[in-house]
Amino acid sequence: MNNKLFIKDINVRNKRVMVRTDYNVPLDDFGNITEDTRIRATLPTINYLLDEGAKVIIASHLGRPDGKSNPKYTLEPVALRLQSYLHERAKVIMAKDCIGTNIKKQIDEMRYGDVLLLENLRFYPGEEKNDPSFAKELASLCDVFIQDAFGNCHREHASMIGVDKYVTSAAGFLLKKEVDYFEKAVNNPIRPVVALLGGAKVSDKIKIIENLAKKMDKILIGGAMAFTFLKAQGFGVGQSVIEDKMLGVVKNLMDISKRNGTKLYLPVDFVVAEKFVSNAETKLVPYQEIPEKWIALDIGPATTKLFSEAIQDAKTIVWNGPMGAFEYDAFSRGTYAMVDAITSSHALTIVGGGDTDMAFHKSGKAFEVSFISTGGGAFLKLLEGGVLPGIASLSNKKN
Ligand code: 3PG
Repeated sequence: MNNKLFIKDINVRNKRVMVRTDYNVPLDDFGNITEDTRIRATLPTINYLLDEGAKVIIASHLGRPDGKSNPKYTLEPVALRLQSYLHERAKVIMAKDCIGTNIKKQIDEMRYGDVLLLENLRFYPGEEKNDPSFAKELASLCDVFIQDAFGNCHREHASMIGVDKYVTSAAGFLLKKEVDYFEKAVNNPIRPVVALLGGAKVSDKIKIIENLAKKMDKILIGGAMAFTFLKAQGFGVGQSVIEDKMLGVVKNLMDISKRNGTKLYLPVDFVVAEKFVSNAETKLVPYQEIPEKWIALDIGPATTKLFSEAIQDAKTIVWNGPMGAFEYDAFSRGTYAMVDAITSSHALTIVGGGDTDMAFHKSGKAFEVSFISTGGGAFLKLLEGGVLPGIASLSNKKN
């Protein structure tokens, strides 16, 4: 990223600036936004451009409308929310489309210092197909292009890797902040550095564990993933979810960690239930005693103590994935106990990739952690050690 242009490196004054954001925010059944971090996180870039007197043209996707216009996925609620954050500072105009002659006219007529939010890019199949003619149409709407859609940077879509072929492009404040925190936490951490990993499937996280086994001092494994590790060591896991085909891979991972001197921690007790329902009867058992007909659905208190102690001396913590089936209260205690442990630590902590951020938002402790990534899949790709196409295609700095 250091070789890529940053918004401050280019002249945006009185220019038509397109900002690609990831406003793929959660909506309830009535179309109300239920969580808006992804909108708030783009305000530094928008405010900077407004200060520079630019015409700010925002492009985003929302949901998966399959290349067709669909009112369910309109960005209208986002325009209203954005307006509420910008107050009187700028007028947010909601466009009816994202390309075409009417949009060009609307941009010609808009005032410098106003914001135009284009309608959902994924209403056109060309977006996800990375169709060059769609990218060219988008590029024709602006003089410069700012990439701030960190959460979508793993997608090779027209607005992510196509528009910047036609106009100068640079990273926005959000994108830079994401990458800087990631560097500090994973690639260049102050040690000891600890990863806390949860989630359901080992197969989804295998590359992440392989990559982190080379970089972390300790890896703590929670979530349903842990059962495949326990099974690989010969323990019974009852009816808990495991991936038989991953048993060999997991054994290999344990060897890699040992060779690299990375300590792997597994849960030592669980909350188990006969059924995965919200009002299930539950009990606490040690890891060697999961009853044959029961399912383990959360880590228990001895594990949260073990994990909390393991992060106590950490200077850096990376967290991805809940510790249990935290959508049900009965199985959410382990995840929230780790939220408490992390927020009372003094380590630089980054959290990201899917549901983990939700645990912080629900607990009201989102402001007590160093950084919560706005990325799901993009954050996971970075944790795997992968390259994000949306960043790779930005304009390089000149030497
Ligand atoms: C995300 O929420 O992870 C991004 O907006 C990408 O969305 P997608 O998974 O629908 O491509």
